[in-house]
Amino acid sequence: MNHRAQLHIAADQPGPVISRHLFGHFAEHLGRCIYDGLWVGEDSPVPNVRGWRSDLVAALRAIKIPNLRWPGGCYADDYYWRDGIGPRQQRPRRVNAHWGGVLDDNAVGTHEFLDLCEQLGCAPYIALNLGSGSPREMREWVEYVNAPAGTLAEERAANGRKAPWSVTLWGVGNENWGCGGHMRPEYYADEYRRYATYVQDYPGAKPLRMACGPNEDDYNWTEVMMRECAKPLYGFDPMNGLSLHYYTLPGGWANKAPATPFDHSGWNEVMARGWRMDELVRQHSAIMDRSDPEKKVALLVDEWGAWYDVEAGTNPRFLYQQQTVRDAVLAALNLNIFIANCERVRFANLAQVVNVLQSIALTEPDGGRMVLTPTWDVFKLYAGHHESRRLPVQVVTEQLALADMKFPQVSATASLTADGAVNVTLCNTDPAHAVEIALTLAGHSADQLSAHVLSSPELTTCNTFDQPRAVTTHELTGIKISGHVVTATIPAGAVASLHFA
Ligand code: AHR
Repeated sequence: MNHRAQLHIAADQPGPVISRHLFGHFAEHLGRCIYDGLWVGEDSPVPNVRGWRSDLVAALRAIKIPNLRWPGGCYADDYYWRDGIGPRQQRPRRVNAHWGGVLDDNAVGTHEFLDLCEQLGCAPYIALNLGSGSPREMREWVEYVNAPAGTLAEERAANGRKAPWSVTLWGVGNENWGCGGHMRPEYYADEYRRYATYVQDYPGAKPLRMACGPNEDDYNWTEVMMRECAKPLYGFDPMNGLSLHYYTLPGGWANKAPATPFDHSGWNEVMARGWRMDELVRQHSAIMDRSDPEKKVALLVDEWGAWYDVEAGTNPRFLYQQQTVRDAVLAALNLNIFIANCERVRFANLAQVVNVLQSIALTEPDGGRMVLTPTWDVFKLYAGHHESRRLPVQVVTEQLALADMKFPQVSATASLTADGAVNVTLCNTDPAHAVEIALTLAGHSADQLSAHVLSSPELTTCNTFDQPRAVTTHELTGIKISGHVVTATIPAGAVASLHFA
C-alpha cells in the first residue's frame, strides 16, 4: 500500500538566497579523476580542449557547476605547486603517496586547472598545503596566481598567462586532524592563523580563507577553531569558512559495502547514515552560533557523498565505484539538508567529479566512453535552486528507521526564482512504498506545472557504458491540480522535481 505525505509551501514568504556554491564539486589527483578522467591530454583522440575532455566539460556545464575544489583532498597537503608549472615535459614525476603510489607526471598543474575552471565557467577553490609545505610556499603560490605585477607575475606570464586569475576561494590545509598532519585542534588553530596570514590580498581578489574543520562529529574541533580563529586579529579576519567532511559509508570504514547488490536493509542503511548529515550540520552550526551569531563564518561541507567498496578488479586505492538510484536519493537528501541550513552552510563539494566515489560521470579506461550517473540527474533537477530564495516547506511524512537511526520518507526543498517561478524538489527515501503527496502551494498559482521524476525499474540498476541512460529522468505523469493543491504519486526510491511557472 502506498504511503501518504503532505507538503505545505509558502511561496509568499521567501527566505535566504540559496548559494549556488552548495552545488560544488571536487577533483583530486586520485585514481582516474584527473588523469584519464577529466584530463585526456591534448594529443588524445578523445575530443578535448587543451587536454580537458569535452563531453565531461559539457556535462558539468549542463549542471551549472559553480566551483571546483582541487588538487585534494589528502593529496593537497603533499603537493608542491612548483611541480606543476613550466614546460610539461620538464615537470618532475612524483609518487602519489596517498593514492596507490602511482607516478604523477604533473601534466595538470596550476595553469591547466585554472584553464579548466574557465572552460567550465566556475570558480576555482584551491586547497593549499599546510601539512607539509611552508608559509612561504603558500604565500608564493597565491602571489603567482593573483598578483598583477612582480617577479612571480612575470614568471606566470612567461609560462603563458599574463593576467592574474583572481582566485578568491582558498582552503588552508585539508583534514589536518588526519592525512594533513594528525594535528590536535589547538595546534592546527595556531598553525592555521600563521599560514592564513600569508594567503594575501591582491587587487580584485580578496581571499576567502577556509579552515580545515571537523571530522564528522568532532564537536571539540569546531569549538576550538571558533574560539581561536573566528575573531579578527589586529584587523586581520583569519577565517571565512570552516569545513566539515562526512561520507555515507554503509558497513563503516573497516567493512565497506559494495555499491551493488543490496537489499532493502542495505538501501535503508545508506538513507539512515546519509540523514546523519542533518544532525552534524545542526550541531556544528549551533556551536558556531554561540561565538558567531551573525554567521560570518560559513560552514563548508567540502567533502560528502557515498563511499562504497571499490568495483571488482579495480585498484583499491583508486576508489572507483558504480551508482544506482539509491545514490541519487542520497544526493537529494544531502542537498535538501544543506539548503535547509543555508544561512550557515554556504558551500559544499560532492566527492568527486569523475571515476572516484560518488561521481557525476564515469569513463572507460584509456579515454573510452563516458556515462552519466544518476547523481548527475539530481544536480540537473536541483539547478533551479541556484541563487533562488528558499521557501518554507512543512512536510508531514512517515518516519522510517534502521535500528535506532531514523530518517523521513519524504524530504523536500522549495525556492522562488528571480523571475517568480517556484521550484520544488523532493525525494522518497522508501525503497518499498510509493508515496502519494498532497502539496499545497500557498501564494502562487499551481496551474502551470511541469514535473519530472528520476526513478529506476530495479533499485540496483546502474547506468553502464552499454546502457548509459538505464536510470534517468522522465516526465512525472498522473498529476492532479485542484486550486492550490497538487496531488501526485512518487515511486518508491525516487527523486522528483516540480516547476511552477
Ligand atoms: O575524497 C577522498 C579522500 O577522502 C580525500 O582525499 C580526503 O580528504 C578524504 O579523507
